Amino acid sequence: MKSAIALSVALAGVVPDPCAPMYDPVRGLYHLHYQFHPNHVAWGNVSWGHATSADLITWTDMDHHPDNDIPDWKDQEMQSIGTTNLTSKHNPPLYNHLAIFSGSAQPVNLSGGIDGTILAFYTGASELPTAWDEPYAPGTESQALAYSTDGGVTWSHYENNPILSDTPGNWNVTGWRDPYFVPWAQMDDVLNMTEPHYYALEETGSYGFNFELSNFFSIGDRYFVSMGAEGGNVSFHQQKWSLWNEGTISVRANGSIAFDPVSGGASDWGLLYAISSFSDTKNNRRIQWGWAQEDMNDFGITQQGYQGAFALPREIFIKDTPDVIPKSPDAGPGNSRFIQNADGTWNASTLGVRPAPDVVEGLRRGTQHTKYPCDERKCDSKQFSVSSNLTKSYQFSVSIKRTTGIAGVTIGASPNREEYTNIYFDPSSNSVSVNRTHSSLINMFANNTHVGYFEPYQFKNGSTEPIEMDIFVDGSLVEVYVNDRFALTSRIYLSREDSIGVSLFSAPGVDVEYSKIEVWDGLLNAWPDRPVNSSSLLVFDTPAETGNYTWWTGN
Ligand SMILES: *[C@@H]1O[C@H](CO)[C@@H](O)[C@H](O)[C@H]1NC(C)=O
Ligand SMILES: *[C@@H]1O[C@H](CO)[C@@H](O)[C@H](O)[C@H]1NC(C)=O
Ligand SMILES: *[C@@H]1O[C@H](CO)[C@@H](O)[C@H](O)[C@H]1NC(C)=O
Ligand SMILES: *[C@@H]1O[C@H](CO)[C@@H](O)[C@H](O)[C@H]1NC(C)=O
Ligand SMILES: *[C@@H]1O[C@H](CO)[C@@H](O)[C@H](O)[C@H]1NC(C)=O
Ligand SMILES: *[C@@H]1O[C@H](CO)[C@@H](O)[C@H](O)[C@H]1NC(C)=O
Ligand SMILES: *[C@@H]1O[C@H](CO)[C@@H](O)[C@H](O)[C@H]1NC(C)=O
Ligand SMILES: *[C@@H]1O[C@H](CO)[C@@H](O)[C@H](O)[C@H]1NC(C)=O
Ligand SMILES: *[C@@H]1O[C@H](CO)[C@@H](O)[C@H](O)[C@H]1NC(C)=O
Ligand SMILES: *[C@@H]1O[C@H](CO)[C@@H](O)[C@H](O)[C@H]1NC(C)=O
Ligand SMILES: *[C@@H]1O[C@H](CO)[C@@H](O)[C@H](O)[C@H]1NC(C)=O
Ligand SMILES: *[C@@H]1O[C@H](CO)[C@@H](O)[C@H](O)[C@H]1NC(C)=O
Repeated sequence: MKSAIALSVALAGVVPDPCAPMYDPVRGLYHLHYQFHPNHVAWGNVSWGHATSADLITWTDMDHHPDNDIPDWKDQEMQSIGTTNLTSKHNPPLYNHLAIFSGSAQPVNLSGGIDGTILAFYTGASELPTAWDEPYAPGTESQALAYSTDGGVTWSHYENNPILSDTPGNWNVTGWRDPYFVPWAQMDDVLNMTEPHYYALEETGSYGFNFELSNFFSIGDRYFVSMGAEGGNVSFHQQKWSLWNEGTISVRANGSIAFDPVSGGASDWGLLYAISSFSDTKNNRRIQWGWAQEDMNDFGITQQGYQGAFALPREIFIKDTPDVIPKSPDAGPGNSRFIQNADGTWNASTLGVRPAPDVVEGLRRGTQHTKYPCDERKCDSKQFSVSSNLTKSYQFSVSIKRTTGIAGVTIGASPNREEYTNIYFDPSSNSVSVNRTHSSLINMFANNTHVGYFEPYQFKNGSTEPIEMDIFVDGSLVEVYVNDRFALTSRIYLSREDSIGVSLFSAPGVDVEYSKIEVWDGLLNAWPDRPVNSSSLLVFDTPAETGNYTWWTGN
């Protein structure tokens, strides 16, 4: 046995994919589940952990055993749906004994009515290991339901589980998981449905060898999909990443629906993965959650005592930018569509993304806010240091009005720059980078540069779109948002306590004009009910518990 040394307020336990984010209109509460392996730092016997929030800003671990004296943040207390030894008609009959993978939930009962029931649709695993690059053993995954009638405190597995036992059409799949189901009024109209239907998505393929956490949704009259793609490999991004597409919908002769992509891009250009979304019916908008993996090269994980975190909840929406010069249609589909207005001007239109503005406002409660007056000369990066003494949790915003070359900011800098991280826009390659070469003196941590594609629009009046960066730092987690349509999540693991400086940064000889420099330092603690030390004991599994370490590694 090992004991966890908690370095931060995160819990001991693995927190990968967010699952089943939803809003319960009956009780006025948001629910968020996540892939959970209590008392371990590595992936293994995964189930669902569970938290609730009234406002998406502060969160409470759900106590599923209110009658015991164990605090709700400790050990397995926040586990909602766990593995069982229930048997079924599935082959093999133990349909969920090894893992509860991700899925979705809706505030409805088994017949679709709203009566306070919460219905979850998840993947149970009966065989392990499973991976996109290994042959798929038949029966490995099946799709099952679980429900709660007391607001999420206690959960039951549906008696006729699994409800989907076999892959569709005998497809030769690489994986078959993370079912997503939604009411979809726009699709009801397309299909001439006279009563509301729920639509479900199982896994599909391409852009990689395996899809995970696939979602589909409408915003207004436009249709989108998003998916985590595993095994894809392009020169600037290897293995897992999160993608989206907008597409047009048409009905085929055989009654099925065709989705033809018209634009697309990365939901996150860094390491945010397993992004799921839900309809926030309280605020009539769509919210996304993603899993920020660690990037530690397996160094220091036990000392940290946990792995994984959520990024900020993100609002996704239609982002229209008027008066742009459209790209030639010959350029093919890109990140944006160009739509002409009646007066002949053009909009660039894309899937916008920004941290939910009300959540950002809430997290700024109690922060120290500094707005830096900034004329052209004063904000020159060589003469101006913003601050050298921030806490570990802050927002740093800056606008680059124009630049002749690489320009951005430095964060996590120690007084003599033994450690620092540069975040910048490079107009020569239309990219935004988080350069981690010198982020940490501990050279075991990943230090590659995260790069994303960001092409500013050109306006009809001859100007170029300014670059508005919003950077959120919370411990090792760094989220970079640009112009409400670009997101990149990274990790930096500082080795020094005094690596708390930020400043402006530009390459030598670059002429850059900054504006709107603001810092909010000391963001709100999103888990006010957890103690500063929320560690639980780490345990190491026996051979019998791990199929002789074939199902998982045991730690
Ligand atoms: C796996 O987790 C379940 C709860 O989800 C628990 O009942 C079971 O004992 C665990 N199995 C092992 C081998 O740890
Ligand atoms: C299922 O049974 C095995 C063997 O008795 C046990 O080790 C395991 O913990 C059980 N799993 C669950 C989820 O209860
Ligand atoms: C679901 O809720 C509706 C009320 O909204 C109720 O009429 C229906 O009987 C419930 N169905 C089940 C299976 O409980
Ligand atoms: C399934 O796909 C894998 C990988 O592409 C391939 O090796 C295997 O032969 C296929 N199996 C069948 C039954 O087609
Ligand atoms: C729905 O109804 C319209 C008008 O009656 C018809 O043109 C269309 O083909 C129908 N769609 C489907 C999927 O049946
Ligand atoms: C990814 O693709 C590049 C070429 O774009 C190739 O050199 C590299 O070997 C590939 N990596 C993997 C892991 O397939
Ligand atoms: C309908 O047609 C499409 C395109 O030919 C095909 O991929 C799909 O499998 C068909 N669906 C059914 C239910 O036959
Ligand atoms: C263009 O964008 C503006 C918002 O900036 C919006 O009001 C307008 O409806 C858009 N036009 C089209 C054709 O979508
Ligand atoms: C930074 O702030 C801490 C705590 O407020 C203080 O102890 C320290 O002296 C400050 N350091 C500098 C360089 O201002
Ligand atoms: C990252 O910054 C370092 C200097 O700190 C530089 O040597 C390196 O080339 C940069 N990496 C990329 C990919 O731009
Ligand atoms: C970057 O990481 C590699 C190993 O991944 C390491 O060999 C190298 O020393 C690191 N670079 C720096 C500047 O720490
Ligand atoms: C684990 O492996 C050992 C030795 O290879 C074997 O004796 C034992 O039966 C195995 N146990 C399980 C649970 O498979």
